[in-house]
Amino acid sequence: MLYLDNSATTPVHPEVIKVMEDVLKKHYGNPSSLHQKGVESEKLLETSRKIVAQTLEVDKEEIVFTSGGTEGDNLAIKGIAFRYQNRGKHIITSQIEHPAVKESCRFLEQFGFSVTYLPVDKQGLIDPQMLKSSIRDDTILVSIMHVNNEVGTIQPIQDLGAILKEYPRIFFHVDGVQGYAKVPLKLKEWGIDLYTVSGHKINGPKGVGALYVRNGIALLPQMSGGGQEGGLRSGTENVPGIAGFAKACQIAREISVINWEKLSKLRKYCINMLKEKNPAVIINGPEEEHVSPYILNISIPGLRGEVLVHGLEKEEVLVSTGSACSSKKDIISPVLQAMGIDRETALGSIRVSFSYQTKEEDILIFVDKMSRVVNRLL
Ligand SMILES: Cc1ncc(COP(=O)(O)O)c(C=O)c1O
Repeated sequence: MLYLDNSATTPVHPEVIKVMEDVLKKHYGNPSSLHQKGVESEKLLETSRKIVAQTLEVDKEEIVFTSGGTEGDNLAIKGIAFRYQNRGKHIITSQIEHPAVKESCRFLEQFGFSVTYLPVDKQGLIDPQMLKSSIRDDTILVSIMHVNNEVGTIQPIQDLGAILKEYPRIFFHVDGVQGYAKVPLKLKEWGIDLYTVSGHKINGPKGVGALYVRNGIALLPQMSGGGQEGGLRSGTENVPGIAGFAKACQIAREISVINWEKLSKLRKYCINMLKEKNPAVIINGPEEEHVSPYILNISIPGLRGEVLVHGLEKEEVLVSTGSACSSKKDIISPVLQAMGIDRETALGSIRVSFSYQTKEEDILIFVDKMSRVVNRLL
């Protein structure tokens, strides 16, 4: 099997499994317990927090462990909105956000918040000037994703942050689920106030992640309970998951630059080979610049995405249509729609996503199987 659906989720790294197994077996204490077993777990938790903080170049106190990207996005957006609503009730986001962000914003609309959904261009990029002109006196939050999960577009976060530095009363949240440890990031320098990370996109476990919350920001917690995670996320901590997540962060960060270089070349190679075999292939999203080397979204005119996905599966190659969350519904991807991609092309789109394990040989296999499937189906 050739697994090329790493944006949906990644296989867990063997070293992460080792750490988790060890914690599950030995360190079962509740971090809140006062005895030795509790203290051990508490130490593990704090060491993990330190590791995650180091990978983001932030303070340990600025990391809140969550159950993953969806919870991080919800906590950031609803947490800011409800805490700071006395300052204003306007939020700015984009039309191509993940449902975790988009639906959080829609939820807030029911509570009297107004939301501006910024459009994107054909490449999926937001125009920073558009952000600037959308800012109102009552704007309290801007939430923009780092890397788009369907087409891989990298938003100009640095430029957006530079604009927002002129508005210190507006908080800047970035959904970093597809960007963290994969594409360049300077949290502090770029003026990011909140940044969401998820474990299972970086060869860590599912159901665990982190939210960076800049020192000095108060969020309204979404969960009431025992007051864990500085009161921001009640509930007994998922210690094995968190320890495994920290290990995954450490590994992903160590290899991120090498991977960026390797995958940039492989992605380009893949595009060239696909074009050679099938000149009609359409690249959805940026071809070379402003794009994550981990994601490639393509369409073959005349073929439906799901037909291609199943055709490739028969050849033992696993990819997906659009995003995993929307791929089971027969609707065109709102992301591709917002990018102005026509209905036929959007219906034909598939997403191929790579990982640190992807090799040149895998690209060759993929291109070969792809042309075999296309020739059979067309
Ligand atoms: C950009 C983006 N944000 C948020 C999420 C949700 O993350 P999780 O699956 O950890 O809840 C995903 C998952 O696909 C994503 O791609």
